[in-house]
Amino acid sequence: MAGEATLNGNNINGDHPAQVNGTAEHSKPKTGIKIVIVGAGFGGLCAAIECHRQGHNVELYESFKELKVLGDIISFGANAGRIFRRWFIPGTAERISDRLDPLCIKLQKYGFNIHKYDGELVMNQKSPPPDPEAPVFNGHRGELHKTVYNYVKDDLKIPIRLGCRITKYFETESDAGILLDTGEKVTADVVIGADGVRSKARELVLGYEDKPKSSGYAVFRAWFTNVDMIKDPETKRFCENGDTFNGWIGPDVHFLFSTIKNGSDCCWVLTHKDDADIEESWSFPGKLEDVYKVFEGWDPLCKRIVSKTPEDKLVDWKLVYRDPLPRWVSDGGRTCLLGDSAHPFLPTSAQGATQAMEDGVTIAICLREAGKDTVAAALRAFQEIRYDRVKDVQKTGESTRDMWHKADWDAVKKDPTSIQMPREDWIHGHDAEVHAEQVVGDAVKKFS
Ligand SMILES: Cc1cc2nc3c(=O)[nH]c(=O)nc-3n(C[C@H](O)[C@H](O)[C@H](O)COP(=O)(O)OP(=O)(O)OC[C@H]3O[C@@H](n4cnc5c(N)ncnc54)[C@H](O)[C@@H]3O)c2cc1C
Ligand SMILES: *[C@@H]1O[C@H](CO)[C@@H](O)[C@H](O)[C@H]1NC(C)=O
Repeated sequence: MAGEATLNGNNINGDHPAQVNGTAEHSKPKTGIKIVIVGAGFGGLCAAIECHRQGHNVELYESFKELKVLGDIISFGANAGRIFRRWFIPGTAERISDRLDPLCIKLQKYGFNIHKYDGELVMNQKSPPPDPEAPVFNGHRGELHKTVYNYVKDDLKIPIRLGCRITKYFETESDAGILLDTGEKVTADVVIGADGVRSKARELVLGYEDKPKSSGYAVFRAWFTNVDMIKDPETKRFCENGDTFNGWIGPDVHFLFSTIKNGSDCCWVLTHKDDADIEESWSFPGKLEDVYKVFEGWDPLCKRIVSKTPEDKLVDWKLVYRDPLPRWVSDGGRTCLLGDSAHPFLPTSAQGATQAMEDGVTIAICLREAGKDTVAAALRAFQEIRYDRVKDVQKTGESTRDMWHKADWDAVKKDPTSIQMPREDWIHGHDAEVHAEQVVGDAVKKFS
């Protein structure tokens, strides 16, 4: 079985000498499978890298015309760190994780200070000891995205076509295909719709249009430089001695504030009740006045921190949600969803981007195992391997939010650890590549 050969051959170990000199990236035999990936977010980029590693031919199509450094804080758990660690710059011993690390928050010294909304410090949650095999990355989404995007384009030289909006997905017996807004048609053995929460690919896969629903919450969020923060003696301390991370938790609201890149950048998110609107956008302008209203009766430090935000950096993001989709793979078995198009996450899970990456690792391995003549079995095996895990991780977004928003403060006083940010081993200890290699043989057989 191919999976066993890889496990025993040690290729999955990032420290294998063949990978240190970068050659293992190209040592997998070519499969001849042509894959079109729609969307160059983290999901699409990771799928492209992993498909390239597994010997497939990949092309990416993306609607944005040029790369822009968009978004604010994004989290990658240890289960993403294991994946990033295996991505070498070809011909060198440099890993993509070496490039991501300087952009990310460092909390070994500081940990996470959790406060009750009135300001009382409830506990300091220590960061787990760093695991060099499974680093954690929390940083600016746009900066991290640019790093991975440039790796795909410049280092791996995977073709990316920008400014291509896909208007239609279709399938025949022998192909899957996309239609661009220019009228151009592109076909391949497999099409992966990594096209985000507003996925167009979902229509083909499900056979109907799936509407998002409101999660009942919205998030004010901002990222800005520390200029005004260090002018104020009360807020200066968050930017002086390296990075910091503080949270304030109240009924139906939580406020998280961190400083990043040695305290030079500041970022906060405020999750609060909001039923008003359903919009799947990242860039709604927000108003500081509206944020202050949420903070009535709260620790005055919260308002003080927020007041340093340039108003044009403030975003009001309505959090939409979707129930788990019945399936991620089309009837014909040549088109599938991946990442947010298949499974949007609430930010409180801190796993949305990481789960999109695990998808990419898994699908690339399934396609290699099944081969060009049985790609439908590969796609169905991919769904089979990923579905329940994704659903369980998705639920942690709700459970963490509810644990905070419905905190019983008398109970928390007796056991402050009950309010800790959960870091569950079944999520973070998972190695998507090792797991897929172990189960792929049986999974593909089941659908062949
Ligand atoms: C602009 C932006 C900002 C974000 N900011 C944050 C953030 O600050 N924090 C955070 O936690 N998460 C953020 N996210 C979401 C986060 O990136 C995803 O949840 C996660 O990384 C999973 O990624 P994905 O690749 O599945 O989806 P996405 O990152 O949404 O990527 C989907 C890609 O598909 C492209 N696309 C969509 N439709 C088409 C089409 N018809 N034709 C061609 N291309 C298409 C989109 O332009 C996009 O680049 C942001 C996403 C976007 C797009
Ligand atoms: C971090 O910032 C402090 C000032 O706040 C500075 O003294 C220190 O040298 C910086 N460290 C690094 C590694 O840049």
